Amino acid sequence: MKHAFENRLRERLDELERQHLIRQPPVIERRHGPWVTVQNDTAPPHAARPSETERTLCLSSNDYLGLARHPRLLEALHRAVDEHGAGATASRLVVGTWQAHERAEHAIASFFQTEGAVLFSSGYAANVGVLQALSEPGDLILSDALNHASIIDGCRLARADVHVFPHLEADHVAAHLRRERHRYRNVFVVTESVFSMDGDAAPLAELLDITHQYGACLMVDEAHSAGVVGPQGRGACAAASVRPDVLVTPFGKAFGLWGAAVAGSAQLCAALRHFARSYMFSTAPGPALGDALVAATELVQDGDHLRARVAAHGRALRAGLRAAGLTVPDGSSPIVPVIVGTPERALALSAKLRNRGVLAQPIRPPTVPEGTARLRLVPTAAHTADDITCAIDRVASAWAELSS
Ligand SMILES: Cc1ncc(COP(=O)(O)O)c(C=O)c1O
Repeated sequence: MKHAFENRLRERLDELERQHLIRQPPVIERRHGPWVTVQNDTAPPHAARPSETERTLCLSSNDYLGLARHPRLLEALHRAVDEHGAGATASRLVVGTWQAHERAEHAIASFFQTEGAVLFSSGYAANVGVLQALSEPGDLILSDALNHASIIDGCRLARADVHVFPHLEADHVAAHLRRERHRYRNVFVVTESVFSMDGDAAPLAELLDITHQYGACLMVDEAHSAGVVGPQGRGACAAASVRPDVLVTPFGKAFGLWGAAVAGSAQLCAALRHFARSYMFSTAPGPALGDALVAATELVQDGDHLRARVAAHGRALRAGLRAAGLTVPDGSSPIVPVIVGTPERALALSAKLRNRGVLAQPIRPPTVPEGTARLRLVPTAAHTADDITCAIDRVASAWAELSS
């Protein structure tokens, strides 16, 4: 007889199925730049490898600069693994810090021009760790309504009061602080700089003014802008001459790697190493990540040509899809959302694209608000102009078939 909890899990999964919310990510066999070979769900397990013509154009990664297969980055990673081995073997507080971790933290701090930086094993761990570590009872966190799940979970873990402000509404933040500031000791205003699912930009300069005016702290997650915009790719804050108190950068996107860093003052870094539980009680990223990060940071800094390329691809993709009648909001980031409304429709469009050799995963609630299910298309600097034309043609034809 099944345990009651398993029956309950079955009911919950069945409910997701009814709502078209079951996740079945494709299994990727190989990557060839921005093309992938996807395991054929219907093929027998030992079927011959798909031929070159069965490659699928991937438009679902965050590899903005195409660094995930950059030869210099791969060489640095291979060399670092040979030198340091695979895992870090324990938390840095337990086994010690590798020099490679410190080299990376110095490189990141110098890249963002901050006093220091602290490595975390992921962006999720960084956001959860920072918000839990910095806030105390009697503090307030103001968080944008469309902030990433890791920020939402950090707010849940924090012992402070949390107020969620309407997306991008700096005026709302100011009005709330005018009324409520006196009730709190420390206030943290938290936002992404470029939002992950819409590619729209936070009003960073206004938020900085407000935080200065009310003696609050500004925390910015640069996941989708570090490497992609700003002088030498130093992100949207650097582009707007905004110096946040806490700057979070996950490295799984434009840096082509994994892990994350929190950059800021020496005091902030010291505090994170003593209070951030996701840093203290979790195995450190393998030391090889440290040396690979140093190499990735150099590539990002020298990557103006890659930034120009991904920006041009983003403009072309957006314009082509809009011309074909798809609902694509305005924007200047390479994140190109194609809004289709219901989860069912997003699944159907994604499936039609799979049949046409394009990988564009459906994005559905709770990742995005109800009624805004979408495909989130992301060109990278590794795509060619022909890849983008091919993407536009195939999305337009899949959409026409779905709408007929
Ligand atoms: C804005 C934002 N912050 C944080 C994260 C989490 O980063 P990681 O994938 O390194 O956990 C993501 C996405 O993954 C993100 O989009």
